[in-house]
Amino acid sequence: MASTVRHQRLGTWNGVPRVRLATLPTPLEPGPEFGGGPRLWVKRDDLTGLGMGGNKARKLEFLCGRALVDGATCLITVGAGQSNHCRMTAAAGAVLGLETHLVLAGDRPEVLEGNQLLSDRFGAHLHFTGAGPSEWGSLEIAREALTEQLAAQGLAPSSIPIGGSTAIGSVGYVVAFDEIMSQCRDVGFVPRAIVFTSSSGGTHAGLVAGRAAWRATHPGELVPDVVAIGVAKGVVAGFPSVAALARDALSVVGLDGTIDDSDVEVDGRWLGPDYAIATPESRAARGWAAHNGAWVVDDVYTAKGMAGLLGNIQQGRWGMNDDVVFIHTGGQPEVFVRHES
Ligand SMILES: Cc1ncc(COP(=O)(O)O)c(C=O)c1O
Repeated sequence: MASTVRHQRLGTWNGVPRVRLATLPTPLEPGPEFGGGPRLWVKRDDLTGLGMGGNKARKLEFLCGRALVDGATCLITVGAGQSNHCRMTAAAGAVLGLETHLVLAGDRPEVLEGNQLLSDRFGAHLHFTGAGPSEWGSLEIAREALTEQLAAQGLAPSSIPIGGSTAIGSVGYVVAFDEIMSQCRDVGFVPRAIVFTSSSGGTHAGLVAGRAAWRATHPGELVPDVVAIGVAKGVVAGFPSVAALARDALSVVGLDGTIDDSDVEVDGRWLGPDYAIATPESRAARGWAAHNGAWVVDDVYTAKGMAGLLGNIQQGRWGMNDDVVFIHTGGQPEVFVRHES
């Protein structure tokens, strides 16, 4: 039964294995007026559908496509305690009939909430490591150890690094770049900028690669700035190398395009003290998003992304003739986790 489901969903994009998991295209919604400021459009990647949606559905289409072609019998991945990527990998495992293991920061709470509650409901095995919220290195080591352990037990694991940010995962956002440009063309504009929240860098790399491929096939046409709002210290400090990941993503799909380090822009001014710590600007942005578009943004990721978008608008980066697309990358389950603030 499960294998029939898998095969109905399996295909390719530009020759790269892809298993259909997301509801695409996601909507492109007009935002409110900013007197004298740009026109805002919100690309609703929070509505990709898989296990309550978010950007990771696009990456998982290619990561799981590869896993199925390789004959994987289980999925393993890793993340922060409230990782959306882990929750969506658990959802993909449920859809595809693959046992799923999640290596998580922190200790098992008495009551599972938010993404953890959903991951558990999707049937994933949750492995709490006790690691601090952004101890990415030790989490990756724990993922590798678990991968070896499960392989020794006779499983064939497909082990996915943090955020699904490999060259193959990034292909999901090469596809998204095309999707955004086509939707904007249908409405009648070329965006001046595409703004989004970035942490492990795969979404960013895919968009940079998509733009490079677009430039190569549309010479002389305007292309948008790709503006990442960094919400984790690593990405703000320039790790991982988004340019290298973007070049690898282009070579995976066999598309032409040139990528320089100057193609990579990370605006790190909205991170605040650290990953997952709300800031005055992100709290204001989550209220603004709720009141102006009923967009639900979370404190870890998308509220900071939205704070970066609004901050750049306030600082006059774009004028009234500019159209700016904000990709809402999801994160809603975190809103239901109890916090002190
Ligand atoms: C809701 C949300 N937005 C944005 C991101 C950042 O995406 P990336 O890891 O590809 O940089 C994540 C990553 O987990 C996320 O969960």
